[in-house]
Order: sequence, then C-alpha cells, then structure tokens
Amino acid sequence: MSNIPLITIDGPSGVGKGTVSLRLAKHLGWHTLDSGAMYRVLALAAKHHNISDENALTHLAHTLKIHFAPLPDLSGTQVLLDGQDVSQVLRSESTGIAASKIAVLPAVRQALLARQRAFLQAPGLIADGRDMGTVVFPTASNKFFLTATCEERANRRYKQLKEKGIDAKLPNIITEIAERDKRDSTRTIAPLIAATDANIIETSNISIEKVVACILERMVPSTTGSL
Ligand code: DC
Repeated sequence: MSNIPLITIDGPSGVGKGTVSLRLAKHLGWHTLDSGAMYRVLALAAKHHNISDENALTHLAHTLKIHFAPLPDLSGTQVLLDGQDVSQVLRSESTGIAASKIAVLPAVRQALLARQRAFLQAPGLIADGRDMGTVVFPTASNKFFLTATCEERANRRYKQLKEKGIDAKLPNIITEIAERDKRDSTRTIAPLIAATDANIIETSNISIEKVVACILERMVPSTTGSL
C-alpha cells in the first residue's frame, strides 16, 4: 500500500484526458503518466524495427528506453525514444491506431504494468489512459472517467488539425475514432471501461476548465493507496 496521492483519469480517445491531466498537474504540482504515450512509443519502435510478433513486442516493451520530460512551462511532455525526440510523430492518428492494435496483446500490457506503476512518486501522480482505475491502480481513491460523444470528440480533433494547418476530413475522423473506441472497449484484457467506483464526467458540453474544476471539487483530500 502506498500513500502517495493519486488521481486516475480514464476515457476514450479524444476526450481531453491529456489536457486535463496536464492542467491538474500544473495546479497540484504533481507528476503525470500519459500511459497512451507508452503504447504509442512502443508502436513506433515496433514499426521502426519491423516487429509484429507478440514475443518480440513484449521483449521490446520490457527493454524500450522511454524518457518523459515535462516542458519547462508544463504545457506538455517531451517524449524521447532511445534519446530521440518523438513527441510530434507520437500524436499522429496512425500512431494512435497502431498503439490501439498493440494494446490488445496481454503480454505487452503485462510488460508495461510495472513501468506504469513506477510513475507513482511523491508528491503525487495524475495517471491517464484506459485502465488506470481498473487495472494499473485499482485501489486509487480518486478515479475519474471522462466521456463525450464520438461526434464531439471528432469535432475537437478536426478543429485541432485544422488549426495546425493539417488537411482532414470530419467523416474519416469519426470513423477512425469509432473504430478505436470499439477495439479499445471490446478487447478481452483491460478494456476501456469505467471502474465501478469512478466519478463519471460527461464533457461534451463543458469546457476543459470546468472539467478540471469538477475533478478538484470531487477529489477526496486523503492520500491514496495504489497497490
Ligand atoms: O490515449 P491515447 O490515444 O494516446 O492511447 C493510444 C492507444 O493506446 C489507445 O487507443 C489504446 C492504448 N491504450 C491502452 O490500451 N491503455 C491505456 N492505459 C492507454 C492507452
């Protein structure tokens, strides 16, 4: 049992977990774990080494040299893979899809488990992903699950891409998000699902600021056991 404070935030792709986590981390002065980034880095490395076999992927998941470094203004995290900055390529839709495909493999998930749990360090951790509250930190007492309709999440993503000058088609984004939701929530191991004791926040019609405020308001102030 650890008494390091912990908040878990789970939910589907594009729901804003990452932004909410960073804002909370800035506010509370805690660390973050972007567990999706781990699956994404693994997918990138697998592509780079042309690996698709489960055993080889599992070995890679154990040995991969991943380094997360918060940006000085805490607006994001720089991700290094074998010392190389992969932060940008990591965020692409194709990397997200590849990560979701790798994430169905039980041995790969098991390999990443201890690496994820090692992020629980003082003064506290905000962990976001799909199974933070159900599998990785099942005894956390501050669990949140964010939801938003597929259309709303696709709209947000579409706007982000447009702002970056990237050409995108809304119907394609809707299809991709729906497919990823289906794969993430129907896999046999650690599927995307709200923990029975999670606070569910429907975010379709509220701002990021409101989501952050809502989490801070509902948070129980006690320290939080992790394992
Ligand atoms: O949160 P994200 O979009 O960066 O995650 C990419 C993929 O990684 C997601 O579609 C499924 C997988 N993932 C997972 O299976 N479990 C997690 N805790 C986080 C991500």
